[in-house]
Amino acid sequence: MDYKGYIARKLKIDGVPQEELAEAVAVPPNTEMGDYALPCFKFAKIMRKSPVAIAEELKDGFETDGVIAEVSAVNGYLNFKINRKGLAEETLARIAKEGERYGGGNLGGGKVVCIDYSSVNIAKPFHIGHLSTTVIGGALYRIFNFLGYKAVGINHLGDYGTQFGKLISAYKRWGDRDKVQAGGIHAINELYVRFTNEADEEMEREARENFRLIESGDKEANELFEWFKELTLSYVKKIYEKLNITFDSYLGERFYTDKMQPVVDELREKGLLKESRGAQIVDLEEYGMSPCIILRSDGASLYATRDLAAALYRKKTYDFDKCLYVVAYQQNLHFKQIFKVLELMGKEWAKDMVHVAYGMVSLEDGAMSTRKGKVVWLEDVISKCVEKAYKIVDEKNPTLENKREVAEKVGIGAVVFGALYNNKIKDIVFSYDKALSFEGETSVYVQYTCARAASVLAKAGNFTRKADYGVEPCPQEFELLKALADFPDIVAAAAKAYEPSFVARFCVDTAQKFNKFYIDCKILQAEENVRDFRLALTEATLTALTNALTLLGIGVPEKM
Ligand code: ARG
Repeated sequence: MDYKGYIARKLKIDGVPQEELAEAVAVPPNTEMGDYALPCFKFAKIMRKSPVAIAEELKDGFETDGVIAEVSAVNGYLNFKINRKGLAEETLARIAKEGERYGGGNLGGGKVVCIDYSSVNIAKPFHIGHLSTTVIGGALYRIFNFLGYKAVGINHLGDYGTQFGKLISAYKRWGDRDKVQAGGIHAINELYVRFTNEADEEMEREARENFRLIESGDKEANELFEWFKELTLSYVKKIYEKLNITFDSYLGERFYTDKMQPVVDELREKGLLKESRGAQIVDLEEYGMSPCIILRSDGASLYATRDLAAALYRKKTYDFDKCLYVVAYQQNLHFKQIFKVLELMGKEWAKDMVHVAYGMVSLEDGAMSTRKGKVVWLEDVISKCVEKAYKIVDEKNPTLENKREVAEKVGIGAVVFGALYNNKIKDIVFSYDKALSFEGETSVYVQYTCARAASVLAKAGNFTRKADYGVEPCPQEFELLKALADFPDIVAAAAKAYEPSFVARFCVDTAQKFNKFYIDCKILQAEENVRDFRLALTEATLTALTNALTLLGIGVPEKM
């Protein structure tokens, strides 16, 4: 619950907007006086009164209710005490009632949000650099659906370009059908790397010819291309499965081959196309950007041309309310150009296009690049993390039955959480040891907290859920309840800011508060009403944390 907003709505100061009031309401360092406080010196000027007099005046005009139990004016501060018991009853009842839907809702009202994420390149390595787009996109996909939007997950495959001509040349020279079939994407990638290392002019010419053959519909060239595509997709789909990632569309760049000419025509009709050194461009100098190149001098289309065609197609097909592109910040300019060109074309919906940019992920040893064969495959990072997780689980709990399964959830969770915990624009350095630490801001810590809550509930067996436990929450309980009650707002804020990290932070924050409560307050040995209340709180915590981890695509082991 947004207490600050709630309090602000009940206060009135002429000339001070409500949002400003809400911002001024703070959580005091010492909550003995109140759970929230408004420092009144900020309004001394506008109200022409002393802070002490302002606090008194505001107090007299403030009516307490079921949410705010008490107000007091002390030294120019207006202090508010929350109705803790009311908060407890309301929150516990709501979480119990909504269960796995808690935190979601119908904010979206069925509006469509297209999300372009992961968007892998056929025949190229699926490497650590693809982690963020994949898991941020996947989390946003679930978050929007949870909030009642209709999310459309799009994997805009990189399946167009001269590299496929090169690949065909390489395969014809050095490839072996069975070996490539067995080696899959790795074998294809080796062929490609070999070609780039060894190609002379003649081979380059041949590669261009092979690409032309794909384009002109040549049967053999297309069969090879489709085969490479299939091998890549069957490989990445296995990783998507591990990461709990799904898509509604796999229409890649190639799909737009015949949809680019209409874009070029429309640009020309609208007088936006200009010739520059033989190329066709949209001049964006006026907007402080380099030109958006639409056709190269040899008539070939570009990445941008295909993205323009794709945007028009998505609008027509899905009539989206928003269209998101979860792509690294290196492509900032590209998306600014695309969105500007759409605007210049008169598409009023250009304003609904959003580049959800994120920072880079590297490993502690500095490895990350795809250059010169020094590729860190995402698959290897995942396996290594699962292996390490297995060792840790085995050490902590050697008699656990399904250790493999738990290690999968823990290891994969650590990779995903590592990419989601920080504000998405930050560059991050992934450390296996930090990601798998039980202490710290990790998914393991959150998962362990869930297992702890589940174990308390299992030990308790049945307990009575009541509308009124007759219990006034202690500070530890109150802090936990407040965190739990905030969850729906946090999910909504995460969607608004395109920041799954808000949900990840909720997980850690709530787990910390639960553990404080767990350590400080007896649960099972408490007298009956208090015991029931604490069990209900434990159950509510487990529900909220499970929902949050699920939104991030992270599994919750029952035992650890
Ligand atoms: N395949 C591209 C890359 O790896 C990302 C595509 C992003 N989506 C888009 N519609 N441009 O750089």
